[in-house]
Amino acid sequence: MDYLPEIEDGLRLIPEAASTQAAEVDALYWALLAVSGVLVLVLAALLVYFGLKYRAGSPSSRQGRASRHARSHHLELAFAGVLLVVFSVLFWWASRLYLDIHRTPAASMTVNVIGEQWMWKAQHPSGAREINTLHVPVGEPIRLRIAAEDVIHSFFVPAFRIKRDAIPGTYTYAWFEATAEGEYSLFCAEYCGTDHSRMRGKVVAMSPEDYEQWLGENGGGRDLAAQGEQLFRSYGCDDCHLSVPTEQAPALAGAFGREVHLADGTRVTADERYLRDSILRPRKHVVAGYEASMPTFEGQIRADEILEIIAYIQSLEPRDEPRASLEPGVGR
Ligand code: CUA
Repeated sequence: MDYLPEIEDGLRLIPEAASTQAAEVDALYWALLAVSGVLVLVLAALLVYFGLKYRAGSPSSRQGRASRHARSHHLELAFAGVLLVVFSVLFWWASRLYLDIHRTPAASMTVNVIGEQWMWKAQHPSGAREINTLHVPVGEPIRLRIAAEDVIHSFFVPAFRIKRDAIPGTYTYAWFEATAEGEYSLFCAEYCGTDHSRMRGKVVAMSPEDYEQWLGENGGGRDLAAQGEQLFRSYGCDDCHLSVPTEQAPALAGAFGREVHLADGTRVTADERYLRDSILRPRKHVVAGYEASMPTFEGQIRADEILEIIAYIQSLEPRDEPRASLEPGVGR
């Protein structure tokens, strides 16, 4: 039985910090703790001091200063004002950090992560796959596209200070940039059934050269889009869906990232969530000018396969290339 490294090392109150965000998350944590600690100490000290000074039978004067006319609000105002400023600074700091953590830097590699009872699967853009392990290069922002196969899981790497739920029915996103080579614990942080406590793994942060070498040894030769293309054919998607518009289906090439006109008059961006919905719930977004004739693939296709097919569709054409194929009525 292997125990958690944290426990073998002796209990650590703060996990090691190995991402660009970790230091600031910790600084904010300590600042909150310090402000709260100072407040508790001041209030507790005053409580004890006044309790002793005005205890029953003490000779301290109860007269004078607090008479109605002499009462001043300066002390209260100062106390409230200082607290307002201090907590506003904390609020601003925490909000900025929160947005930082949720906004992915533009140029970063996207790795798909799928939570499934009871393991974590990962897909690298090159086609490499792994289970309960995630190899990443240090010094590069890594974006995670997180999916759930069955129930809610939560991807948690304490050393990177990131935790993001994997939610059935949608994709969630997280990003990190590892700062030091090493192996870091990965946990599922959302109770997800019998073996939830065993749903853990590790993130291996490597030098970019080692990562390239690892990819070469584990890539399998075909990238994610090529794997998706094979699935696209084996599920029979190519019976109707071609890169050009057909009688039954709008064109796929150039569809990714474009705005789609729907039969109900609304518009939606053809991103990965849209594509996923179109595979599982084809009647949700019917493209204008087409019949809702596609069958659902709910229950027949796995979350990791959907992500591969999306990678294939995304690869078909540069996303910004203007196309007429998804305009209303085309293809009829
Ligand atoms: Cu997956 Cu807990």
